[in-house]
Formats: sequence, C-alpha cells, structure tokens
Amino acid sequence: MKNNIILIGYMGCGKSTIGYKMAEKLAVPFLDTDQWIEEKEKTTISEIFATKGENYFRDLETECLKELLADGQFPKIISVGGGLPVREENQKLLKQLGQVIYLKATPDTIYERLKGDTTRPLLQTENPRQRIREMISSREEKYGAAAHKVIYVDGKSVEEIVREIVDVGR
Ligand code: S3P
Repeated sequence: MKNNIILIGYMGCGKSTIGYKMAEKLAVPFLDTDQWIEEKEKTTISEIFATKGENYFRDLETECLKELLADGQFPKIISVGGGLPVREENQKLLKQLGQVIYLKATPDTIYERLKGDTTRPLLQTENPRQRIREMISSREEKYGAAAHKVIYVDGKSVEEIVREIVDVGR
C-alpha cells in the first residue's frame, strides 16, 4: 500500500476543499480525480456525461486510479468523485493507493450545500433532495467497503476536519 491519503464521500461533502487545505498544510501535492478527467478530456464533467455517457466517465475514473498507482510520486492527497468508490475494482485500487478516509455528511447537509448547483449531472432532476437520499442509501455500503476510516463532517469547519484527518494518520 502506498502512503497517499484519499478522501471519498458524497458530492458536496467537502472532499476537494478539505483535500486542498490538507495538501497545503502537509506541503504535498493535491490531486482531484474530477479535475484530472476534465483536464485530460479538455471539457467539463457535464459535457462528458451529456456527449459520451456515464460509463465513459466511470472508465476514466478507473484509468485515473491506475495511473496514480503507477506514479512514483507520493505521498499525495487525492480527492475522488463521489461515485468512484461504487465500482468494486476501484475499491481495491483505492486501498492499494493509501489510507482511504470517508468524509461522511447527512443528506440535509449535502442538499443545503448543493441546491442550485448545475455542475453535477446526476443532480439535475426535478427533486434533487430525493435523489440525494436515494444515492446515499445505494452507496453507503460501498463507501464503507472502500474506507479505512470514517470522519463525520456535519457542523465542523474545514480546519477542524483537516486536523482530525491528520490526527487519524498518526
Ligand atoms: C459524481 C460526483 C461528482 C462527479 C460526477 C459524478 C457522483 O464529483 O464525479 O458529477 O456520481 O457522485 P464530486 O463528488 O466531487 O462532486
């Protein structure tokens, strides 16, 4: 197992913000899989879903993890798209990559943070609150299987969460 720190969790749980802050604090590189995919494809995630479909996007997520495993530059802080840990193959790759931390938030927190967001194709529905609840119940077990540790993020500041993650790693 490599010594990266990988943040997983639902859209809107704060993975990217927290990951970026942590990387700054620990002075190590930060990588976000959504960003990696957008840079590789030179377009947005919404556009990839619309023109090439979700499966194409999911294959890119797996490809990103494989590249990270082959990459000799670590440790890194890595934040991954909310749906990435759903694939069983990805769960194994994540565990090989390092310490996997699940940033857990309640459906209400996620809804409050993401209402009005137009960048997440899976939430562009009539009833995003309902969609978030369904997503959480269908993914919870997969996140549990992928993670080494769970950190509850509701009501905590970015600084507090970063400190907690750093303490977990000690
Ligand atoms: C997705 C989460 C998004 C992005 C894509 C699909 C998901 O990432 O990968 O819109 O299936 O939960 P964030 O979790 O960073 O928002």
